Formats: sequence, C-alpha cells, structure tokens
Amino acid sequence: MKIVVTAGPTREHLDPVRFLSNPSTGKMGFAIASEAARRGHKVILVSGPTTLPTPKGVKRVDIISAREMLSAVKLAKGELLIGVAAVADWRPKTCAKVKMKKRTMPETIKLVRNPDILKSVKGVKKIGFAAETGNAIKEAARKCREKGLEFVVANDITKRGAGFGTDTNKVAFVFPDGRVKAFPLMTKQKVAEKILDEITRI
Ligand code: PMT
Repeated sequence: MKIVVTAGPTREHLDPVRFLSNPSTGKMGFAIASEAARRGHKVILVSGPTTLPTPKGVKRVDIISAREMLSAVKLAKGELLIGVAAVADWRPKTCAKVKMKKRTMPETIKLVRNPDILKSVKGVKKIGFAAETGNAIKEAARKCREKGLEFVVANDITKRGAGFGTDTNKVAFVFPDGRVKAFPLMTKQKVAEKILDEITRI
C-alpha cells in the first residue's frame, strides 16, 4: 500500500528568524514510517524540521509550514494518510521579508487559521493523532468524527513518558463507533507496530 506519513512540527514564520511552532521532534512519525517500510509498504514521509535521519526505504519530503505540508501530502497521492505531525493551527497573517527590528516589532501579532491537512484530503483512508492535556479519549472521539478518520491515536501529553520528544508513548486507539483500545507505556517503535497491525484490520 502507498502510505503517506506526516511528522514533526510545522513552523509559521513572522520574519526570517522568528516563528510559531511546538516541541515535536518527529520521533513518533519517523518510527511509523520506518515500520511501514520494513513491512513492505511504499512510504512517503512529509516532515517538518527535525534532526532525525531518514528511515531506510522511505522517501522523505521536507517542508517548513502547514501550507507546504498540505501541498506535499496532496502531491504524494497516498492510499492511506497517517497524520502524526503537530501542525500549527495558526500562522501570522503577514511574514516580513527581512528581520524585524526590536523597536519596530508590533506588540500584537494578527493570526489566521491554517488549513486542516487531514480534513482537506478526501477520498483516502486516514488515521489521526490527538495530543491532549486532559480528556484525551473524548477529544479524540470528536476529532475522529469531525475529520472522517478510521481511528485516532490519542496520547495524553501530561503523562510521564508520553507525547513530545520522548522515546516512549502511552496511547489509546479511539474508533468512530466509540470503541477504545488502550495500551500501556511502550517504546514509539512498539506503538508504530501496534498501529501497523491495526491497519491490516481496516
Ligand atoms: O514528534 P514527537 O516528539 O515524537 O511527538 C509525537 C507527537 C506528540 C507530536 C504525536 O504523538 C502527536 O500526538 N501528534 C499529533 C499532535 C497534534 O497536533 O494533535 P492535534 O490534536 O492538534 O491534531 C489532531 C490531528 O489533526 C493530528 O493527526 C494532526 O496531524 C492533524 N492536524 C492538525 C492540525 C492541522 N492544521 N492539520 C492537521 O492535519
């Protein structure tokens, strides 16, 4: 199967050196891309800025912003899209061409909404992630319905060893019919294996 995986953060610049972003390292998405390629799938990894090496057998497309990520995902034309990236929901309305001087920096920045990548891609099977700080299952179920997903991998990023930057994660798969499969703390590699196992059932 041709699988497109998004990973890492996006950056939304307000000038060439300043941006809005988040602490995603790409570890979770890269582990999934690596495991999918190991199982013989054709994998395109659309990644925001990270320091990770490209997994073996994976085609990688590097992007910076959410809008670039959306274009790359659409171009990749996968049969299955796994959205692991922590996409910035907002971007500054304008981006200065040159570095802004401290004295001319505005005190407030006007933001506009970024496109939702999972929602925008139609006609393919989609799996999402949900990084939550409370009520992870309820929020994941809502995202599953709103974005038309096969299932959502919910991670409560307030739990020790889960979420951004860690080598482990604690996740639950949340399905549109309300079923939940919860897992103990595992390595991100093991989480990737569980996701790929679940994909054989959808
Ligand atoms: O990269 P690591 O350091 O290993 O960290 C892993 C992780 C915490 C980033 C990962 O496990 C995770 O939870 N990724 C999703 C983070 C997130 O931004 O979740 P969200 O609840 O904001 O978004 C829900 C889903 O919609 C996600 O699949 C996201 O990729 C997608 N989305 C969000 C916003 C947007 N504009 N477009 C999207 O497609």
